[in-house]
Amino acid sequence: MTQPTNRAFINGALPEVTIDRHIYGHFAEHLGRCIYEGVWVGEDSPIPNTRGIRNDVVEALRQIRIPNLRWPGGCFADEYHWKYGVGPRDKRPRSINTHWGGVIENNHFGTHEFLDLCEQLDCEPYICGNVGSGTVEEMSQWVEYLTFDGDSSMAAARAENGRQDPWRLKFWGVGNENWGCGGNMRPEYYADLYRRYATYCRNLSDNKLYRIACGAHAADYRWTEVLMREAGRLMDGLSLHYYTVPGSWEEKGSATEFDEADWFTTLQKTFFMNELLEKHTAIMDKYDPQRRVALIVDEWGTWYDVEPGTNPGFLFQQNTIRDALVAASNLNIFNRYARRVRMANIAQTVNVLQAMILTEGEKMLKTPSYHVFDMYKVHQGATLLPMEIQTEQYEQDGAAIPAINGSASRDNDGKLHISLCNVKPNKALEFSVELVAIECSQVTGTILTDSAMSAHNTFEDPDAVGPSEFNEARLSGNTLSVPLPPMSVVVLEVQ
Ligand code: AHR
Repeated sequence: MTQPTNRAFINGALPEVTIDRHIYGHFAEHLGRCIYEGVWVGEDSPIPNTRGIRNDVVEALRQIRIPNLRWPGGCFADEYHWKYGVGPRDKRPRSINTHWGGVIENNHFGTHEFLDLCEQLDCEPYICGNVGSGTVEEMSQWVEYLTFDGDSSMAAARAENGRQDPWRLKFWGVGNENWGCGGNMRPEYYADLYRRYATYCRNLSDNKLYRIACGAHAADYRWTEVLMREAGRLMDGLSLHYYTVPGSWEEKGSATEFDEADWFTTLQKTFFMNELLEKHTAIMDKYDPQRRVALIVDEWGTWYDVEPGTNPGFLFQQNTIRDALVAASNLNIFNRYARRVRMANIAQTVNVLQAMILTEGEKMLKTPSYHVFDMYKVHQGATLLPMEIQTEQYEQDGAAIPAINGSASRDNDGKLHISLCNVKPNKALEFSVELVAIECSQVTGTILTDSAMSAHNTFEDPDAVGPSEFNEARLSGNTLSVPLPPMSVVVLEVQ
């Protein structure tokens, strides 16, 4: 009997590691309409809000169980002075957002508002401090303001500004992209600065910080090498930034007007994440064989040309079924690297880059990428199961990428979840999965797909692309047969 070309083996007897729920994290920067309009509308807005924060956006993000939110940047973080963003709003200084359109930042959304947002979302805050243009004292006082449960001036200022009790704050970034917008530093210099700044980010009262160092851009392996060698013992996490840019940085390509060659390149560049994780991880293994330090992919996602007619500094782009495949494929990769990758943050939450949500005035829509996060939330905190995939290739102009990718996990209730992507835009694929040492009797599923590569949601038609029930998978003994439509993301639940 001939074996199917597209098949996988999942071994339930060989559980690997926990998929940290923080892999499903997000990122919100003071950039374009992400914070202002997208999250913060102010208490007097006619848009329904709770203490100035949009109710519709909070509700949508709670639905996907957002585990953490990174803030205030990005490049913005290394020019952000936190003291501007506390105290009575009408007295807060006005600064220039030099990175993003040169617009005036009124600082109405600051520390208290961000932590209120996190409480409303029931997620962990991840704050990125300013190394590029801030002082050690400024950063250390921010930590004290946030976390000290005693009678210091910083704690008293926090109480005066309306918050008596300190916050619990775990994730703390020591600078952002300090090789670029965060100060154009060499890794040797930043490694020393990291050591210095991190020293004064104290664990105060009973709060324990999880310190994250600025990591490499894409394939800058030397950065990882130097940071691990010189400062690895003083960090809990080291970051990595990698964006999927179909074209060049000058001409990135349109979010909605593209052909199959662009589709292919976008997916091909997404799969480069595999190589990046393998190589950065290998360097980290050399200095940290116990895997104490996590790799934190705290910026990832698609980056296209801005939508025509919008401010080039605001990075507003549409989001199609192509983005759904990019999100789902990346999340499969992160799951598979869960041994070292313990947090990731897609850029960015609302109205910027590969957003979960787009808003226009009081209107809000969920993007195809949002639906992927909704479907994949079953992997959060579950146990990764080894999944060996054999797949045909998707070929274009002499290049080839795997047509199918996936990952599998078992949750605390014993349910098995398998997430699969068929990245071919014009060919349905038959897939079969051998479930080894797994008891099973039924399978259900959800699918996200469309018939057009550029399918997306608009304010006129906000549900054009959305998930639906998938009843096509068949279980026969321990073999699952799954017909995967072209350009589809499928999540199966087997029990
Ligand atoms: O997400 C947009 C920008 O991309 C961030 O501000 C920066 O860190 C990265 O270059």
